[in-house]
Formats: sequence, structure tokens, C-alpha cells
Amino acid sequence: MTLRSPLINVMTAAARKAARNLVRDFGEVEQLQISVKGTSDFVSSADLRAEKTLHAELRKARPGFGFLLEEGGELKGTDASHRWIIDPLDGTTNFIHGIPHFAISIGLERDGEIVAGVIYQPVTDEMFMCEKGAGAYVNDRRLRVSARRRLDDSVVTTGIPHKGRAHHEAFLRQLGAVMGATAGIRRMGSAALDLAYVAAGRCDAYWEMDIKPWDMAAGILMVREAGGYVSDLDGGREMMTTGDVLATNDHLLGPLGNLLRGQPATA
Ligand code: IPD
Ligand code: CA
Ligand code: CA
Repeated sequence: MTLRSPLINVMTAAARKAARNLVRDFGEVEQLQISVKGTSDFVSSADLRAEKTLHAELRKARPGFGFLLEEGGELKGTDASHRWIIDPLDGTTNFIHGIPHFAISIGLERDGEIVAGVIYQPVTDEMFMCEKGAGAYVNDRRLRVSARRRLDDSVVTTGIPHKGRAHHEAFLRQLGAVMGATAGIRRMGSAALDLAYVAAGRCDAYWEMDIKPWDMAAGILMVREAGGYVSDLDGGREMMTTGDVLATNDHLLGPLGNLLRGQPATA
């Protein structure tokens, strides 16, 4: 069984098409180890090319819908109630370093609510898909969040702020608390895949601060449709505006939320 609807077909087809060039570019990164001027120029052209393909394919299929694109910003459509929210390459740092863990993320918002999502990991050929009320799938397999009840059995994924990003001190306090309470923490380098992996039950929870709507739009619905919960770090629903996300199953939501909230945001 899998998820098939005209909307999901449009989204998966666009993701597959954009992924073809990304995979080719990734091969070049591995080959060249970019001896030419800088990896970042090369990668930003890979991002841009993927975004252009996604934009063209989705506009062709649903002409009036608006866009929120990581690279291109907000593009208003004639249909004010629909908006695609797109990260053409999530996991750029991995991509640059030849680490095969990155994805394309496409979310569809209808009247301010995410109603469909696709996260495609080309290297493993895993197409994560979800539609509101219809469940979440990876390829032909239904997704379900993990059933782990105890923090000390749980593997938690996160994103670590780096140079140029805020919240270093606050994150270290959160990290200290979570590492002392769980079976392990992973920093895999793609927020979209972190959310997809929570939906798949591969990781039991994920949290991060200060991420963007395109990092999380598809992933939020993926986790919810897989039976999980997503909130901001205050336990509210302002993930897209605050940039703060906690995603997990219902057993760990309380304990992990309390642990993170127990850490002061400022020293
Ligand atoms: C980044 C990845 C990373 C997360 C960062 C994001 P990008 O997105 O999702 O895992 O920790 O916060 O900015 O730059 O690779 O698209
Ligand atoms: Ca991203
Ligand atoms: Ca990106």
C-alpha cells in the first residue's frame, strides 16, 4: 500500500525530477572535492537549479499556487489559499562534504495549514509522503512513530547551532540535560530528514531551535500523520513563527518537553 493522490503524484514527480540534477551534482562534489574556488558557489548553484525545477514543475501542475522558496523567497500566486513551502536541498553542509544525507522538502499549505508533504532522500531513494487525514508513508510502507515510553531507551536527534547562528549557550544546556537522560543523541544534518525519521520511528524524538518554515513544513505533517506530536519548545503550536520544534511520540512529549523547558534560555 502507498499514498497516491493527484496532489502527491505532482509533488513526488517534481521531487524526483529535481533530485536527478542534485544527485549528479553530488557525484561531482565527491569527485572534485571542489578543488575549484569554493564549494559554496557550486552548492548554491545546485540548490538554485533544484529549486528552479521544483518551481517550474509545481507551477505547471497547479498554476495559481503561491510559493515560499528558501532561495527565491515569497512568490504570491493568484490562488491566495495555497502555498508551496520548499527547501530544494536540506543538508547542504553534508552535501558539500560528500556525506550522503540530504533531502528535498516540499510542503503544501492550504489556508495557513499544512495539508501535504513530501521529503525525498535521493541517495537511499526514500520518498516520504503524507497527506492530511490519509497517513504518512515511505515508498510503499506506512509510517508510525516509535512506541518507546522511556527517555533512557530513546534516541533523540537534534541540530547543533554553528558559527553565525544563535543560541549556542542555551543549546549546550539543553544538550547536557538530554544527553544525561537518553540512550543517545544524533546530529545528522537535515532537519527535514530528522522529522521524517521521527515519523518512521527510527528516532524517538527531535528538537531544534531557530530553523525555518521550509525545514519543517513537510516534516511537521509527516510526524503528525504518523501518530506523533509536534510543538514549539513552550508546548505551543508556533513552530513556524518561533523556529523552535519538538517532535516525538505521545509518551515522550511530556518528559522531553519538561526537560528542555527546564533549561534557562539565557544564563
Ligand atoms: C539546515 C539543516 C540542518 C539544521 C539547520 C538547517 P540547510 O538546512 O536542516 O540540519 O540544523 O538548522 O539550516 O541549510 O542544509 O538547508
Ligand atoms: Ca534547510
Ligand atoms: Ca536548503
